[in-house]
Amino acid sequence: MKSIDIQKLLRVDPSQASTYDLPVFPKVIKLDANESPYELPADIMRQIFQSLEQARLNRYPDPSYWELRQMAAKEWGWPAEQILPGNGSDELIQAIIVTFGGAGKTVFVPDPSFAMYRIIAKSMGENVEEIPLSDDFDLALSDLWRERMYSLSQAGHLIFLAVPNNPTGNCFSRLAVEEIIEQFPGIVCIDEAYVDFADSNYLDLLPKHPNLIILRTLSKIGLAGIRMGFLLAGPVIIQHINRVKLPYNINILSETVAKVALSQKEAIKPSIAQIKQNRDWLYEQMKNIGAVRVYPSSANFLLFKVRSLEAEKFFEQLLAEGILVRGFSSQGRLRGHFRVTVGTREECECFLNGLKKILSSA
Ligand SMILES: Cc1ncc(COP(=O)(O)O)c(C=O)c1O
Repeated sequence: MKSIDIQKLLRVDPSQASTYDLPVFPKVIKLDANESPYELPADIMRQIFQSLEQARLNRYPDPSYWELRQMAAKEWGWPAEQILPGNGSDELIQAIIVTFGGAGKTVFVPDPSFAMYRIIAKSMGENVEEIPLSDDFDLALSDLWRERMYSLSQAGHLIFLAVPNNPTGNCFSRLAVEEIIEQFPGIVCIDEAYVDFADSNYLDLLPKHPNLIILRTLSKIGLAGIRMGFLLAGPVIIQHINRVKLPYNINILSETVAKVALSQKEAIKPSIAQIKQNRDWLYEQMKNIGAVRVYPSSANFLLFKVRSLEAEKFFEQLLAEGILVRGFSSQGRLRGHFRVTVGTREECECFLNGLKKILSSA
C-alpha cells in the first residue's frame, strides 16, 4: 500500500484550526448552550405532528423554500426574495465566508464574541483579526483600529457583530455599530441570534445599506433541535450567497416544523417573556453575592466570574451539584469567567443554590 501523508493534503494547517468541542454530561441541568428551557406549547406540537403527517419524505423539499421564506418575510417585514433559510445560522455564517472571503481578505471579529466566526473562518484558511472590546465589552474603536478596518480596499472583507453579543450578553452601542456599517469597506454581518431577548434590532438599516446582512435563528426560542437560521440582506448579496449555498440545505422535517412555529410565533412569545423575567431575577440574585461579578445581559444567558475560586475547580464542583454551565477557563480575556444560560425559574434556583453552597464551603 502506498504511503500518503494526509496532513500534507489538508487545506489548512491543523495548528491554525480549532474545533467547537462541547462536552456531553447526561443527567445534569443543562445551562451551557443558550437553548430555551421551555418546550413548545402542546397545541403547537399537535399542529407540528399533523403537518409532519402530510410531509412527503420520498420527495426533495421545494428548492426555493418559498412558503417558508414568505412566512419569515411576514414575521420580519422583509421581502421573501431577500431571505435565505440555513441549517442553523452556523451554516449561513459559513456561506457568507465562502462567498466573500478568500485569499487576501480579512475577517474581523470582536474579542470576545461567538467562537464560530473564528472557527469557521480559520477552517477555510481565512485571515482573522480580532477587535478587542473595551472593559465593558463595547466596541470602543481606537483611531488605530479605525485606520486598520476602514482603509481596506473594497475587495470583500467581512465583519461579524453579534448584537446582543455572545458570551458577554450586552448590545454594542448603536453609534459604534452604525459607524461600522457606514465606514467599513466590506460586508457587515449583524448576527441577531438573541434579538428576541433584547429591546432593539437593526432591521431598519437593511434598506439603506447594500453591504449589510442580518442573521436570525429559531434556536434560542425553543427550536434549537431543528437547526433553522435565516439570512436577510439586499438582492445582490442574496443572489451571490444563493450560488454558494447547497441545494436542499433544509430538510423537509425542519422546514415543516419551522413553518408551523413561524405561523404560531404569538404562542411562543410567553416563553420568551418568561426567560427575560427569569434572567432579570437571576441577575439581581447574583449581583447580591459578594464573591460573584455578574454582567448585565440583553440575551438569554449571564456572564459571570467567581472571585477567589479556581475556575476549573468551580466548574467541577458545580457539575457535582448537577449543573452544567459554559466555562471559558482557557481563553485569555475571559479566563475565569462562566456563562450560565437562563433556565426555568426552578433551574435558576438550583443553579443559585449550587453556587452559594460552593462559595460557602470555599
Ligand atoms: C451569536 C450566535 N450566532 C449564531 C449562533 C448559532 O445559531 P444556530 O443554532 O442558528 O446555528 C449562536 C449559538 O449559540 C450564537 O451565539
